[in-house]
Amino acid sequence: MTKAQIGLIGLGTMGSNLALNIAEKGHAVAVYNRTASKTGAFFENAADLRERIVPCATLAEFVAQIRPPRPVVLMVQAGKAVDEQIAALREHLEAGDMIIDAGNANFRDTIRRFGELEGSGLTFVGMGVSGGEEGARHGPSIMVGGAQEAWRQIEPILTDIAARFQGEPCAAWLGEGGAGHFVKTIHNGIEYADMQMIAEIYGLLRDGAGLSAGEMATIFQRWNSGPLESYLVEITAEVLRASDGATGGPLVDAILDRAGQKGTGRWAAVEAQLMGIPATTIETAVAARSLSAERDLRLKAQGAYADALPTGRLVADEAFIRDLEHALLAAKLAAYAQGFAVMEEASTEFRWDLPLGTVARIWRAGCIIRSQFLSEIAAAYDQAREPAHLLLMPAFVDTMTMASPALRRVVARGVEAGLPVPALAAALTWFDAFRQGRGTANLIQGQRDFFGAHGFERVDAQGDHHGAWSK
Ligand code: 6PG
Repeated sequence: MTKAQIGLIGLGTMGSNLALNIAEKGHAVAVYNRTASKTGAFFENAADLRERIVPCATLAEFVAQIRPPRPVVLMVQAGKAVDEQIAALREHLEAGDMIIDAGNANFRDTIRRFGELEGSGLTFVGMGVSGGEEGARHGPSIMVGGAQEAWRQIEPILTDIAARFQGEPCAAWLGEGGAGHFVKTIHNGIEYADMQMIAEIYGLLRDGAGLSAGEMATIFQRWNSGPLESYLVEITAEVLRASDGATGGPLVDAILDRAGQKGTGRWAAVEAQLMGIPATTIETAVAARSLSAERDLRLKAQGAYADALPTGRLVADEAFIRDLEHALLAAKLAAYAQGFAVMEEASTEFRWDLPLGTVARIWRAGCIIRSQFLSEIAAAYDQAREPAHLLLMPAFVDTMTMASPALRRVVARGVEAGLPVPALAAALTWFDAFRQGRGTANLIQGQRDFFGAHGFERVDAQGDHHGAWSK
């Protein structure tokens, strides 16, 4: 057998599916896993793709089986395992070889790894991959960070294995260093917001209007053929529709209301804060997921506040369902606008020059937040002559003008009924502050000057001023 064109380490769910995808697209791939039995089992199950898969029992064998210069994809758990794997690989690789970290790495770790590998003769690439198991197997969205030259080397394979949107591969070089992993982190922040807002609407329909899972499935399914058309809305309908083998009832009712998180959403919120970019919808979605995990505490609080609970009912009539659809659209747009604003700032701060139109374009297929709405975002960035906030682009001013009144009504009804809508409310209140030409921070400046002589600007004069406060 001729040598493999690429190697892949880590045969967990994502790694094994990505390896099968690579082989299926006609590229011979050497595979290695720390636990050798996993490699054997993977190979056994690879059916006719086995002819393009080279299972390797040791790292030495793995490296020897790849044609130099060797691209090696790491699909191991983000964090320590990546550093360990890089250290082990360095013993075997030669100058010119390339290590591609395709896990959900923190982009700050990626930047550190670039530094550590500098001068080693090895090339490093930080690559965000989105699309879950299905995406890895049949076409993920691929966000590449590193030297442009490195991208050119691996571009043919990556564009072969990536998802396609109307024939265009959803893989792109986004910038140097940690750019790819940063963009993936923001993708996940938006993913958290999207999922949380959908869950809040589910909560209004379930607890406010008393709809069954099946009835809600029908609503989400219908929304999936309108402006909300997206993977997450589509799978929400499917999740709501699924029945439980054990109880015969809806599976969603048998699932505990406690969501996990691996950290990428939190990183998005933290980075937004560090850069001073308000991304309250994303932050709130992360916090809501954390509160979901505190189930015991919530159960105690439910008991403690039983007497304080409002008991308002909602009626799921046509008007309310339409409001929910528009509310989700407006809130979703706010979340995306926040995520894109964070990327815009990071682009300057880290000198990445992130191509935001391209980011939107490669998110149109393969990834978890894929939605028809991303085509509009891509088009808006293409038409923008200079960097602009998404919500100042004419197409989105129109959408927000049309949809934000519904968001206001939905948040108000949720609040009145005592049903939690934190991410929807965060989107609305952020939007209200965003579009308020005359804000209230003049009072904050007055307070700051009062207690700390921090100074303030005047509306009618230049320079730094102080009040003659009588303390
Ligand atoms: C993707 C996803 C994926 C992520 C899972 C779980 O784009 O394919 O973002 O990378 O790992 O969604 O993330 P949480 O455990 O943080 O929810």
